[in-house]
Amino acid sequence: MHESRAPVGRIAYVNGRYLPHAEAAVHIEDRGLQFADAIYEVFGVFGGQIYDEEEHLDRLERSLGEIALEMPMGRAPLKFVLREIARRNRVTDGLIYLQITRGAFRRDHAIPRMRQRPTIILTARTTDAAGFEQRRAAGIAIVTRPDERWARCDIKSTALLPNILAKTAARDAGAWEAWLIDRDGRVTEGSSTTAWIVDKDGHLVTRDLDRAVLPGVTRRVLAEVAASAQIPIVERRFTKDEALAAREAFITAATIGALPVVTIDGQPVGGGRPGPVARRLQELYRHAAARKSGDSAETQL
Ligand code: PDD
Repeated sequence: MHESRAPVGRIAYVNGRYLPHAEAAVHIEDRGLQFADAIYEVFGVFGGQIYDEEEHLDRLERSLGEIALEMPMGRAPLKFVLREIARRNRVTDGLIYLQITRGAFRRDHAIPRMRQRPTIILTARTTDAAGFEQRRAAGIAIVTRPDERWARCDIKSTALLPNILAKTAARDAGAWEAWLIDRDGRVTEGSSTTAWIVDKDGHLVTRDLDRAVLPGVTRRVLAEVAASAQIPIVERRFTKDEALAAREAFITAATIGALPVVTIDGQPVGGGRPGPVARRLQELYRHAAARKSGDSAETQL
């Protein structure tokens, strides 16, 4: 006879309470639901460590500040909840999702004047680490789509309708990501990732930061490790044609690190194979992030 073990149920955190995932809920008048009046963050968890935690918390505070939404709890208790939600969901390799909304009020467009009572939600789940390693070895296909988003993409808001439509178009075309193209024909970023190329002169290129793109945490940390490894990085705009003529292309995000791109709209890039720079940067990034997390024992889950 088998020894049967009770399945480990998923747990969510909602406004101070840990709840079974299926029972976790917010009010129907929550402004996150009504207006996407909400900010989010996604933390990567690798080998039981939360990567780039301080940088994600810095960006969270910045995004909240840009829409005048208060941080519902201090950094120290929030860090505790981050660890706790990963631990309770047995996440060693995966992600932690955090969302802060402006809370539930009678539906009126203008931000309520009364005292804020934000909603905070955290979930955590294991991701397919082996699947990502396979993709890293084989490279991924991407497509391009027009960038139809709003003018403040530097704010990590949950208003992601254009992003999800672009990602769906990618999936329908058998690709993993969509690179968004601005009115001048330049790549801004992926629907949920930062876009990079290694140009024909060997320079590591990613778009300069302004309101048209999210300042990726992985982008920032990768740029630091590239600089310390004497890999020159240039922040400038590039077109799809330049990407097709580049030595390499790749994408980055907290959940995936650096993932090589081998086709764009069905055409090969970098000879249709993952390139050495993306691989090297991924290794440097993993080492740097693990070392940074390992420096303070408190980041261990
Ligand atoms: N997406 N650009 C966009 C539009 C993004 O949504 C993301 C992250 C990135 C990469 O940022 P970072 O390196 O900080 O993860 C760039 C997350 C993972 C998501 O929406 O799930």
